[in-house]
Amino acid sequence: MDRAASSAAATPSRRPDVREGEGFTILFEDRFGQRAIPAWAGESVAAALLAAGERAWRTAEDGSQRGLFCGIGVCWECRCIIDGRPNSRACQTEARPGLSVRWQVGPGLLPDGGLPDGGAS
Ligand code: FES
Repeated sequence: MDRAASSAAATPSRRPDVREGEGFTILFEDRFGQRAIPAWAGESVAAALLAAGERAWRTAEDGSQRGLFCGIGVCWECRCIIDGRPNSRACQTEARPGLSVRWQVGPGLLPDGGLPDGGAS
């Protein structure tokens, strides 16, 4: 097999369930408010956030801001609150229309110190 054929054989094909042009928005809320983030079917929440210019979506216990690091589900640096569930990995969650993504502080709190379900911390 020549080099070009070998390279083409190693190139992954597109997912058959993803159609081009299928766009929608997810909702991202941080300390400054909520906004709609464009997303495409088949991409991760982290990919949509990065494409929209967001570089962080969590405050770590030491006060530093965190976002994508490994991108493959190993490091857990990308965790945030997705559809009310704290510690959801943005790089492992597929974007879907209307998905709610919220900034996470520490072990799973909202920026105001409250719990995602509306309870007190
Ligand atoms: S970026 Fe490492 S688990 Fe998501």
